Amino acid sequence: MATTMLRTRRTRKRLTTDPKGRCLVGIVRGAAQCAAPLRIYSHSAMVEQGRKPYMEKDITSSIPDWRESTPKEASLNATLLRRTSGKVATLMERLLTDKEINLYHSYGNVVSVRRLGYNDHGPVHARITTMNALRMLDLLRAGGIPTSLEAEQVASFEESQVAVALGCFLHDIGMGVTRHDHEWHGINLVDPIIREYLAWLYPDQLDKQVVVRAMIHEVIVGHMAKVPIHSIEAGTVLVADGTDMTKGRSVIAFNMQFEPEVGDMHRFSANTITRVEIKKGTIKPIRISIQMDNTTGLFQIEEVLMTKVKASPVMKHLEIEALISGQVPRMYLK
Ligand SMILES: [Fe+2]
Ligand SMILES: [Fe+2]
Repeated sequence: MATTMLRTRRTRKRLTTDPKGRCLVGIVRGAAQCAAPLRIYSHSAMVEQGRKPYMEKDITSSIPDWRESTPKEASLNATLLRRTSGKVATLMERLLTDKEINLYHSYGNVVSVRRLGYNDHGPVHARITTMNALRMLDLLRAGGIPTSLEAEQVASFEESQVAVALGCFLHDIGMGVTRHDHEWHGINLVDPIIREYLAWLYPDQLDKQVVVRAMIHEVIVGHMAKVPIHSIEAGTVLVADGTDMTKGRSVIAFNMQFEPEVGDMHRFSANTITRVEIKKGTIKPIRISIQMDNTTGLFQIEEVLMTKVKASPVMKHLEIEALISGQVPRMYLK
């Protein structure tokens, strides 16, 4: 594995490339959770060819090509379309190919991964969390739990699905501004998009546009567990956001960091999570099953997922288990 050193604003870091010259740091788009070759640039290839690395090049050359999905994104797109129907499928078809939204996701990862050293908040995270949120909503329904809009008799289950899907898909776009209060920055950026989509989905139905728009705002501002939320819809997205914790999400931040730094526990613990499964519970409607190589991964459950679960109205409908290689399962919620 070839390596080269580059001084950044934060610290001296080692840029790692694989034998094919794929730069693990320069990954912006879904490649943060995918081992696919980069389509943007390869740092080592540039150095070997005597060309300037990306930080010295025209910035526009680093903007990802939104028109081509990575293999990981394409796989998630297919799953999302296969699992949805009706208006939700129509919504997903447009969302997954929306140029502006894809660019917001990609740039959000520039800030998250390159500038701040966080994990993936881009197109793959949006797809995984949306898929998990819709899955949980289906399991709640199968378990006889109505959404808040249904229980309050202001909208249908499908409208709750639309609010969850659209809100979840857009929830981290504010990372493109900054990490702090990114849920509020996100609202500022995406509200025109929300209004446009709802006017398209519900033409001449202002009541539905108003209700779903307000619900989407609760979904987005509530996803960090800092703003109290009260609906099943927002609570579902809050938990779904915490379920994207497998090692793929942190691989870039993990590979960037070779010197001890506060936050290492997040990277090392996430790197032990091999699989997160969302399925029907034994007693409650939903079971979240987290598989890991060793107990380090428990940090992800206790400090990341449970923080969100405890703030979610969905908590009482969840079973959460940790499956550690060679050990008996540990139940966090049952
Ligand atoms: Fe977030
Ligand atoms: Fe998120």
